[in-house]
Amino acid sequence: MGLKYSNIRKQLIQKESQWIEEGAAYVTHYWQNRDNGYIDNYKKEAEEYIDNLTNESDFNYGIPFKYDVPFPPPKKPTFKFIDLFAGIGGFRISFQELNGKCMYSSEWNKYAKKTYDANFGEVPFGDITKTDEKKIPDHDILVGGFPCQPFSIAGVSKKKSLGKKHGFLDETQGTLFFDIARIIKEKKPKAFLLENVKNLKSHDNGNTFKVIEKTLKKLGYIVFSKVLDAKYYVPQHRERIFIVGFSKEHFSKNIVFNFPEPLETVQQIRSILEKSVDEKYTLTDNLWEYLQNYAKKHREKGNGFGFGLVDKNAISRTLSARYYKDGSEILIPQGKNENPRRLTPEECKRLMGFPTEFKIKDTGVSDTQLYKQFGNSVAVPVVRAVANSMIQFMANNSKDILQANRMNPSKLANRKIKISQEDSQ
Ligand SMILES: C[S@@+](CC[C@H](N)C(=O)[O-])C[C@H]1O[C@@H](n2cnc3c(N)ncnc32)[C@H](O)[C@@H]1O
Repeated sequence: MGLKYSNIRKQLIQKESQWIEEGAAYVTHYWQNRDNGYIDNYKKEAEEYIDNLTNESDFNYGIPFKYDVPFPPPKKPTFKFIDLFAGIGGFRISFQELNGKCMYSSEWNKYAKKTYDANFGEVPFGDITKTDEKKIPDHDILVGGFPCQPFSIAGVSKKKSLGKKHGFLDETQGTLFFDIARIIKEKKPKAFLLENVKNLKSHDNGNTFKVIEKTLKKLGYIVFSKVLDAKYYVPQHRERIFIVGFSKEHFSKNIVFNFPEPLETVQQIRSILEKSVDEKYTLTDNLWEYLQNYAKKHREKGNGFGFGLVDKNAISRTLSARYYKDGSEILIPQGKNENPRRLTPEECKRLMGFPTEFKIKDTGVSDTQLYKQFGNSVAVPVVRAVANSMIQFMANNSKDILQANRMNPSKLANRKIKISQEDSQ
């Protein structure tokens, strides 16, 4: 099979922007599910979009090709999952490694879609709030690091005080957690894994988290949660809450899920630094002076440090989505006579524990966007450890969960397509 995903992609589009549209999400999901009987979920819209893109009247919609991306779909998957608020796919890497097949992904940021496509050969669908949950394919596990958008429980109290009736999902309406809840309600996955900032637990005196837990329990799940620090896996202090749930339909009520115990390993940021770094990452005199003055002012007020100059033998602070602004939270010292520098996108990738083959070059995504993407993402080795514990747990605790080959092969139309020789090398 000489044809590659990138050849066909290139043949179909005139400009890159056509490959982040909703139509491309249908096409790529259609291709990713060509062998498992789920193409019907995407077929009509996918073929329409292809017709739209090409004048080739006898295009073979299901043309066989090889995925020339770092993380192609597994050949013989043993379970199915969906990737919500997918970002750049930090969750997907781990669940695919465990032989899971991603049935559906959703992410509305166009640059994140680009990075995602370059790595998985799939363009995520857009705004989840507009997605009909009934159209999402069946899956065993739902995963999602939903944005840390604050809840307004106050709204609920107001409703209560006005004496209005409200269903349990009403309590979360208007938040993106609501979208997760309505998908879980409809699709009833056997398990889920959600992730958020540590503060979710203390937000609004713990009420926010209580509502989330209550909602998930009412949907029929046994829920476990734990704050995990990525520092045992990567040289970065990054505390995130992981919420895991198992359906009461498939698991006994008495189950106890244990989150992975971290190894007490010492991580050093020097292990992720590039040997030679472009000067553009060094702070300008102006910025460095500004950061020092800012820190001084705040120290005087007793507010602690502004910037974080790292000790290369230790770990860094948490990489955030705002790192692109001034890099102040993680600065790399460069000796007495030189201003410190910020991390390169490649170093951010390593700091988040993404595999070496994760592609960020030649994808048309700027440094600024890459900083945002890694700052928003998950430390992959932490997710890997949690995912691994979940899969082991599911295999040990329920008979019907992870049987191989549950997906039915299906046939696609086999019409011909002309692809230039040059492209099919
Ligand atoms: C905290 S990040 C999750 C990142 C992801 N776990 C990863 O590994 O990269 C949340 C993501 O949700 C996306 N998002 C926010 N609102 C959305 C919506 N309504 N529909 C789809 N995606 C949305 C954001 O663009 C962002 O990438």
